[in-house]
Order: sequence, then structure tokens, then C-alpha cells
Amino acid sequence: MKVVVKIGGSLMKAGVPEALVQDAAKLSPSHQLVFVHGGGDVVTEYANRLGKEQRFVVSPEGIRSRYTDRETVEIYQMVMSGLLAKRLVQSFHRAGLKGVSLAGEDGALITAARKSKLVIVDERGRRVAIEGGYTGRVSGVNSSLLDLLLGQGYIPVVSPVAVGEEGEPLNIDGDKAAASIAAGAGADAVVFATNVEGLSLDGSLVRRLSAEEARASLPKVGFGMQKKVMAAVDAVKAGVKEAVICSGTKEAPLSKALAHEGCTVVTP
Ligand SMILES: Nc1ncnc2c1ncn2[C@@H]1O[C@H](COP(=O)(O)OP(=O)(O)O)[C@@H](O)[C@H]1O
Ligand SMILES: [Mg+2]
Repeated sequence: MKVVVKIGGSLMKAGVPEALVQDAAKLSPSHQLVFVHGGGDVVTEYANRLGKEQRFVVSPEGIRSRYTDRETVEIYQMVMSGLLAKRLVQSFHRAGLKGVSLAGEDGALITAARKSKLVIVDERGRRVAIEGGYTGRVSGVNSSLLDLLLGQGYIPVVSPVAVGEEGEPLNIDGDKAAASIAAGAGADAVVFATNVEGLSLDGSLVRRLSAEEARASLPKVGFGMQKKVMAAVDAVKAGVKEAVICSGTKEAPLSKALAHEGCTVVTP
């Protein structure tokens, strides 16, 4: 069984979720695992330390995102691919797993189309178009590189950076990257490990919902989870059999997610 696991930035900011790494070691003989990680808060922390204040913009749909200029994309790469991916690889090695960190630039693993313009809502609530900066929309995944590594027993750890048409690095959404990799690699499941048990609606955890139901729930879902639900829908629409949203900090989080225990499962 091939499984893509996204480790949320909400987890990475408190250090590598070791229960998840231990569980990966238990599953790895019978599963092909690919990891994708987030880390936005850690990027912001290091950018501040470097004296580069981060600017966040809000889309007309209310989605808040980092404005990624040239200096910011370099800090983003340093923290995502240099620091966080390597922390994960080190933990995997300690657990006896052969982790290999990769970003979208490596072997053109993730290609993206650079957004030339971004439509944002300014302080006065008006819509304005600004330069897109270094953010992209995923356009392709080179799954043969992943298969090469998986075939030799390595565990790919992928940072949410893509390569643009001119070879430039692009900031991409981690949840979307995981969904695209799962679809591109023909995974059986994609698991979004985060800091809550799953999607809650009207105060209770939703155990199971179809892609249609998930999409219909979006107006009632808050930021953060909304991106995950959208990515889950994209993944199952693109052929992944199930998308699971789960807590990454409890005991054996991946085994429980794959057994549909205490989590949210989105099916086609
Ligand atoms: N309906 C909802 N159900 C569950 N979580 C929600 C919901 N609406 C908003 N959230 C928030 O989404 C967060 C998860 O998204 P995010 O912070 O982006 O995590 P990650 O860093 O793991 O991607 C939760 O911690 C929670 O605060
Ligand atoms: Mg998130």
C-alpha cells in the first residue's frame, strides 16, 4: 500500500512528532511511505530573526497567505528544505528508516506555474491585483523519482517548494502538494496529520464524508482546516481512494488513520 503523509506545520513548530516517526517505522515494511511537511510558522520565526518582516495577504475568498517576494522565497527554502526536512530525516534515521529529503527543484519533482498576479483584498476592503511574487500552482509531479527511491527502500521527505518554468523556486501550499503527490504517485491514501483529530462540524468530529459532502461543508469550515478539506477533495477526485485527516501526536497516528479510528475520512 502506498501512502502519502502530510505532516502539518502546526506539528513541526513543536519539533518532529516522534510518535508518527515510530509508527512509520512499524508500517514501513508493508507500506511505501512518502512524507510531505509544512512549517509556515517556523519560516516566519526565522524570517523575523533575519530582520525580514513577513507580509500576509488575504484573497477575496478569505484565504490568508504569505506574500513571497524574492528574499522571502530564499528564507522559505532555507527553513523548509534546509532545516525542517533535515530534522525529519534525522528522526527517521534514528528510527532506522532511510529518509531522503527532496524539494520540488530536485529532479523537477514538483513543477508549478508561477502566479503572475494575485488578487487580494486591501486594508479598506477593496480588491486589488498585485505582483504574484514567488508562489505557484502545482502543474506536475515526477513520480518516477519517488518510485526510484521507494523501490530501493528509501523514504522520500518532500518540502513544499516547486520549480517554476524558468527554474525559479516557488512557495506552494503543503496540503495541496501532498494531494498532488498522492495523485501523481498513484497512492492508495493520503493522510493529513495535524494538531486536531479531524474536521469538526457543529462541535463534533465528522467520521466520514464523500467528496461532495466535504465540498459542501467548506463554508462552515475555518482557515487551516479548509485548505486540508479542499486538498482531500482534490486528492480523491484525482483517483486517490481515501484522504484521512487525523491528529499526528497521539500513539500510532498513522496506523489509526489507516484503520479509520478517531479521524475524518474523505472518500470519492
Ligand atoms: N471545522 C474545523 N474543524 C477542525 N479544525 C478546524 C476547523 N476550522 C478551523 N480549524 C483549525 O484548523 C487547524 C488545522 O489547520 P492548520 O493550523 O493549517 O494545521 P497544519 O499546520 O497541520 O496544516 C486546527 O488546529 C483548527 O484550529
Ligand atoms: Mg495548514
